[in-house]
Amino acid sequence: MKVLVVGGGGREHAIIKKLKQNPQIDRIYALPGNGGIAMDAECVDIKATDLDGIVRFAVEKGISYAVVTPDDPLVLGAVDRLEEKGIPCFGPRKNAAVIEGSKAFAKDFMLRHGIPTAAYRIFTEVEKALAYVRTAPLPLVVKADGLALGKGVVISQTREEAVQAVEGAMCLHAFGSSGDTVVIEEFLSGPEVSVLAFTDGETIVPMMSSMDHKRAGDGDTGLNTGGMGTVAPNPFYTADIAERCMETIFLPTVRGMKAEGREFRGCLYFGLMLTKDGPKVIEYNCRFGDPETQVVLALMESDLFDVMRAVTEGRLKDASVRFSDQHAACVIMASKGYPLAYEKGFEINVPEDVMPWTLFAGAKQKDGHLYTSGGRVLGVTAVAGTLKEALNEAYARTERVSFDNAFYRSDIGQRALQATEE
Ligand code: AMP
Ligand code: GLY
Repeated sequence: MKVLVVGGGGREHAIIKKLKQNPQIDRIYALPGNGGIAMDAECVDIKATDLDGIVRFAVEKGISYAVVTPDDPLVLGAVDRLEEKGIPCFGPRKNAAVIEGSKAFAKDFMLRHGIPTAAYRIFTEVEKALAYVRTAPLPLVVKADGLALGKGVVISQTREEAVQAVEGAMCLHAFGSSGDTVVIEEFLSGPEVSVLAFTDGETIVPMMSSMDHKRAGDGDTGLNTGGMGTVAPNPFYTADIAERCMETIFLPTVRGMKAEGREFRGCLYFGLMLTKDGPKVIEYNCRFGDPETQVVLALMESDLFDVMRAVTEGRLKDASVRFSDQHAACVIMASKGYPLAYEKGFEINVPEDVMPWTLFAGAKQKDGHLYTSGGRVLGVTAVAGTLKEALNEAYARTERVSFDNAFYRSDIGQRALQATEE
């Protein structure tokens, strides 16, 4: 079978490596992939947002199955377009991907279905948004409605910051048209948990929980990034909490989407905050998280392709979705300066025994060598019997990978480790 994977980051590299374990797949194409993914799949220079190009390629090559993982092609309707040509896909259709594509939709949806989330207001007029932030209780969280590469959320401690955030999104168009509508919500606190779940629109099967580290610097300082490292499982996510999330969040979400004619098939990502008043949804994503996928798939024992097809064909309730009881850690190595400006083009050196544990994001190949080409360059993963061992091993491997201008956080997993030792 020929499988196509749309995307080109560490998440797609993790998915491709896992798909390769299925003997029915003889060829995987990555669109566009990257220089590191090229070691595991055939990379084709078609952008993930070029829906015409993707569909043309899939038809020409006789693709049997397509996996669409990045947010923008999903929100643009890549799955609908491929399905029109009779190609089965993993990923939600456009009318379901809106759960990530519009935060205003997601918030109103949660309100309609009684799903716990932060209290909020939605504004399409800047004057009204400004009037609100001048009096609402601080801190305030200002979010651009649409996709913004993980950068559309500003937590404002002061009124000046909140005013700036509103003006940045609505007047200066910092996030393009994504900021024409803003969601302003109450600030919540508590440990954060990422739960990715397979769903075929009816059945929902959560994967192993994980913890992302979104800030660029140690001690959760610096700017928000796409994610600087992950651990799984997340020690704050106990069996009791998991059960409560299933009842109050996961099932109502899947049922609510179906009832609204927006059946969701694919991977639904729940960004949760465990507040004093119970678990609440911080965000939905319509896809696998990055770098959560790197640790979650490292622990997945079942065959990913079998599960994906069960999702597509609406028979998830009969599928086997098993995870090992080990621990996984992933450290992201980035280019210094990320998430703002950074230099690239530096040679990447990965020892041979670390290569199987390395998943590439911003890497280019030239004359058989790998060079940095993005902010997040690669992720190094480890799996072990305890979180501490997984972290030690991941860092020991990371220290042996080198490229000029590299940086990584040195405290991935420390908060999780403290929680397990308390
Ligand atoms: P999002 O892109 O919606 O996941 O937001 C990015 C990050 O901002 C989250 O991972 C949280 O750490 C933080 N955040 C978002 N919404 C809230 C909120 N209502 N209260 C506190 N922190 C928040
Ligand atoms: N790691 C968070 C995300 O994928 O959005």
